[in-house]
Amino acid sequence: MRFSFLTILSAVAALGDALPSVVQIRDVPSDNLSQFKFWVQYAAASYCQADYTAQVGTKVSCTTGNCPDVEEAGATIIYDFSNSTATDTAGYIAVDTTNKAIVLAFRGSYSVRNWFADASFPYIDPDLCDGCFAELGFWSSWTNVRDDVNAQLEDALSQNPDYELVIVGHSLGAAVATLAAADLRTKGHESAKLYAFASPRVANPTLAKFITAQNNNYRFTHQDDPVPKLPLIAMGYAHVSPEYWITSADNTTVTASDIDVVEGVLSLDGNSGTGVPLISDFHAHHWYFEKTDACLNNDLPFKR
Ligand SMILES: *[C@@H]1O[C@H](CO)[C@@H](O)[C@H](O)[C@H]1NC(C)=O
Ligand SMILES: *[C@@H]1O[C@H](CO)[C@@H](O)[C@H](O)[C@H]1NC(C)=O
Ligand SMILES: *[C@@H]1O[C@H](CO)[C@@H](O)[C@H](O)[C@H]1NC(C)=O
Repeated sequence: MRFSFLTILSAVAALGDALPSVVQIRDVPSDNLSQFKFWVQYAAASYCQADYTAQVGTKVSCTTGNCPDVEEAGATIIYDFSNSTATDTAGYIAVDTTNKAIVLAFRGSYSVRNWFADASFPYIDPDLCDGCFAELGFWSSWTNVRDDVNAQLEDALSQNPDYELVIVGHSLGAAVATLAAADLRTKGHESAKLYAFASPRVANPTLAKFITAQNNNYRFTHQDDPVPKLPLIAMGYAHVSPEYWITSADNTTVTASDIDVVEGVLSLDGNSGTGVPLISDFHAHHWYFEKTDACLNNDLPFKR
């Protein structure tokens, strides 16, 4: 399926009024906030080359100083991967003995702006549920690393049977993380937690509802970040619910009252309702509790 971006923009403009709005907005529980601020640091670390190309046994660290609590937890990298797919998927698996977690982290692509301008968002049947479709590029990024990642996770979890599995990512990495979580939950890891920051849509409404019903999903957006607005609802895509919509400005400390929890896979009450996706709004993409992709600018030049 191919769509021209401009056709779609005009289609989405007409869509707003047509959607049923069975929607509930509430503030985030304040005891969740410290959790969010902790797990985002694993997503931030996935941008640091020292982590996604680490020697096994290395501690997770951030040259940009934006994962201090993870560094303090002393998490050890047991596996990493990079350059393995067309969408440039990279990431690592770490064991966090302090928090009793096995963490699977996916790094966002270096060329999210190219993706934003060029992607055509075809579907594939991921064989997860009846009538479910996933975005082809993100699903392929996951399946290309799935066997090796799965073997490593099985090994780590069998050595640490009381640990939880936590899957994290920012930007395109969050998209891959979402589909990885959906798949792994159907393969014996039903209580895996997902922290997805600035994720694009990855699923049709049927798959989005399926993932939503699996629970343990924490999906964040920030203000008018354009990345979570793609692929468009008008192209048949939907988001995992709920959405934790961060409404405060860049470079500021996020408080519990800055986060609206928005329910519904097609809701326009959060980020999706802030207008058509514009490249000029990209600033919001970089600030999820902290400068999430700081290592991207630090370790390698950011493609603009
Ligand atoms: C968020 O808060 C709810 C209600 O207090 C709690 O059940 C849930 O475990 C918390 N989740 C996280 C990730 O802290
Ligand atoms: C990925 O590939 C690019 C281009 O081939 C190369 O410059 C870069 O160093 C590679 N990254 C890693 C982590 O291997
Ligand atoms: C946030 O900080 C960055 C880097 O210091 C700066 O370029 C940007 O303008 C700041 N944004 C806001 C909204 O203050």
